[in-house]
Amino acid sequence: MTKDKLKIPNHVAIILDGNGRWAQEKNMTRSEGHWHGFNNLETLSDYIFEKGVKILSVYAFSTENFKRSKTEVNYLMHLFSEGFKRYSKRLAKKNVKIVFSGRRDPLPKKVLKIMDKVTEDTKNNTDCIFNICVNYGGQYEILDAVKKVVNDIKEDKIKEEDLDLDMLNHYMYQDLAPVDLMIRTSGEHRLSNFLLWQNAYAEFYFPKTYFPAFDEKEFDKAIVEYNQRNRRFGGINYENENS
Ligand code: FPP
Repeated sequence: MTKDKLKIPNHVAIILDGNGRWAQEKNMTRSEGHWHGFNNLETLSDYIFEKGVKILSVYAFSTENFKRSKTEVNYLMHLFSEGFKRYSKRLAKKNVKIVFSGRRDPLPKKVLKIMDKVTEDTKNNTDCIFNICVNYGGQYEILDAVKKVVNDIKEDKIKEEDLDLDMLNHYMYQDLAPVDLMIRTSGEHRLSNFLLWQNAYAEFYFPKTYFPAFDEKEFDKAIVEYNQRNRRFGGINYENENS
């Protein structure tokens, strides 16, 4: 198969894992690892969108990450407030809409303010979507969706009998197409509560590389691997069968 003919997944999701271990191997602090991860994501996301991916979701901070040391959490919050501004300037020029998934509480006001501004500034961009998951948990996303559904039924906004998978999708933090390719860097083979609903039929790819070193070449390898998968969605792909 030539490179040009490779099928590009519509929605790619990445668990940005291994910043800490990458830094430790280089005698750097964990914060420096996150800084390098952040810089890598900036250039990698450009490349991913240029390749033709329409939706990119990243796991920047889970609900559980608040259990980390104060120093690390504070550093990450600082990185987000500066980073979202930087990404938004860059991606606005490329017609990419930035959206956020996750619970607002207990994110610091400063971060929320920037998230709201970035959402507003990029809301009319139409080429691609960059879904940044901050203070995100997949089970909470489903729980929050169910609560909204129950409330809308109570208030007669929707009828229980009309509720189907498409409608339920609208109640998720963002109304996105399903994930096609889910990548977790650093050799861990876990989903860690990431996009549980949207990953239902995703292909999973687990490279050993730590996120700060997961560059364009590494992403190309993921695409090659994705093209070798036989996606059946619970059915049978008869093109690959003898009878
Ligand atoms: C997991 O690696 C990484 C995180 C919890 C933070 C990821 C955040 C970034 C890469 C910055 C993204 C920035 C923006 C603006 C979206 P780890 O710390 O768990 O690594 P380890 O498992 O090796 O300790």
